[in-house]
Formats: sequence, structure tokens, C-alpha cells
Amino acid sequence: MSKAGVRVEFDVENATDKLPRHIAIVMDGNGRWANRRHRPRTFGHRAGQKAVRATIEACLRRGIAALTVFAFSSENWQRPDEEVGALMTLFLKALGREVDELHDHGVRVRFIGELGAFSPALRERMRAAMEKTRGNGKLAFNIAVNYGGRWDIAQAARHAAQAVVRDEITPARIDETFLASHFALADLPPLDLFIRTGGEKRVSNFLLWQLAYAELYFTDTLWPDFDAACLDAALADFAARERRYGKTSAQLSSGTAGAS
Ligand code: IPE
Ligand code: IPE
Ligand code: MG
Repeated sequence: MSKAGVRVEFDVENATDKLPRHIAIVMDGNGRWANRRHRPRTFGHRAGQKAVRATIEACLRRGIAALTVFAFSSENWQRPDEEVGALMTLFLKALGREVDELHDHGVRVRFIGELGAFSPALRERMRAAMEKTRGNGKLAFNIAVNYGGRWDIAQAARHAAQAVVRDEITPARIDETFLASHFALADLPPLDLFIRTGGEKRVSNFLLWQLAYAELYFTDTLWPDFDAACLDAALADFAARERRYGKTSAQLSSGTAGAS
């Protein structure tokens, strides 16, 4: 049984072929979690860190190749200064505290987004974390900060334009494959499973291009309450989906038209 009392039929321990290779999570609901406890929103952000640790551990146990979390959107700068400041302090401290342990567990840490907007101290810690863990292969853990899906598309388009200006390609070469290779995380397996906690059913400018054929999973659980059992519930739901990629169910079950 999962925490919510819903029976999880799926035997996650023995279902490696039905597991997603790449999971992305919009970690939403920290503020409401704190509000319900009559505490400031930052209390919820602090509590959310435990859920990040639990999710990384669960992904390592399950053999998931890549986990990408949305920690701070390009729109989140619009929040009150105290909240933005508290989040920056939290990121700085978490980086100081967690990177060695992640490294010991074989986790490769990467930040995606427009990192130039952050303080030099934070940028340096991000750089150091990426540098230290770059050789690790157990789990690619990507943290989207000052990230926006529209920004990602714009920067891929800019790279394409630059390649044309340098005479490396003609505009005719700019197709889906070319663009795809210039998005954040292009080197990782395609996004299989998108999870959003906190009950909202929207993408909020997360990985727009990469979401094209991801399976979407929404849960009312607020992010600080998310744990390994919640992840298993999402994995069970994912395993029950039929990913048709435009084909028919019959084509898939005849085994002659495998999706790639
Ligand atoms: C997500 O939780 C964390 C960040 C956006 C940094 P929220 O802070 O959005 O929490 P709610 O949605 O207000 O409850
Ligand atoms: C999305 O959550 C961004 C992160 C979780 C970092 P928001 O709480 O900012 O999204 P909206 O405002 O509800 O769309
Ligand atoms: Mg929110």
C-alpha cells in the first residue's frame, strides 16, 4: 500500500524494463505546507530539502538514470525579496553541505538555467559541484535554477543562428534533430516521466521541448511530504501507461512497431 492508502499493484523491485530513465519534478507546494503550519513560507522551503534527499536516494535505489528538479524558475524572481533571498541562502548552504555525500554516492550534479544571474559565491559553488561530480555515472541529478523552458528554446535557436553566421551550417540544416542537440540535458535519455506535486496542473515554463512525449503525473501531495513511497506510486502509474508515440495499440502489441 502507498502512503495515501492506494494499492500499488506494480512490483517496482522487479520491473526495471518499465521504469522511466529520466524523471523531471516540479517541486511545488512548499509555501502551502508552511502556511498550514502557521509558519513562514521559507520554513516550507527548508522542509522541502528532506524530500529532495529522499527522492535522490529512491532514484539511486531504483536505478533511475536521470532526475531533473525545478528549484527556481525564471519567474520566481518576482517573489518578495525576503523569500528570494532566503532561497538563495538555502541553495548556498545546501551546496556546501550535500555535494560531498552526493559525490560519494556516484551522483553527477548539474545546474541548468541562466546561471549568470546568481551571486558570484553561488556561481562558484555551482561550478565546483559540477566540476567535482562530472565523472560520476550512477545518477545524473540536474537542478533547474533561473530556468525557463522558453529560455531553453531561445538559447537553442541562438546557437543555431550562430552556427549559420559562422558558416558551419546552412539554415536548411536546422531541423528537430539539430535543435534537440542544443537544449539543456541533450546528452541524457529523453524525459520519460514528469511529476508535479502540490496539486496544480500546469507546466509553469519547465522543460517545454523535452516534455513532448513525457508521461505527465500530478499529485496533490505537497513537496515537503513527498517521499520514496510517493515516487513508487508515480512509477507504478507510469508502468501502467501505454506509450504509443502516435501508433495504435495493436501495432505495439504485435511487437513489430516498437517505440523508440
Ligand atoms: C515551490 O513551492 C518552490 C519554489 C517555487 C521555489 P512554492 O513556494 O511555489 O509553494 P506554493 O505553491 O506557494 O505552496
Ligand atoms: C514552479 O512553481 C517553479 C518551481 C517549483 C521552482 P511555481 O509555484 O513558481 O509555479 P506557479 O506560479 O504556480 O505556476
Ligand atoms: Mg508554487
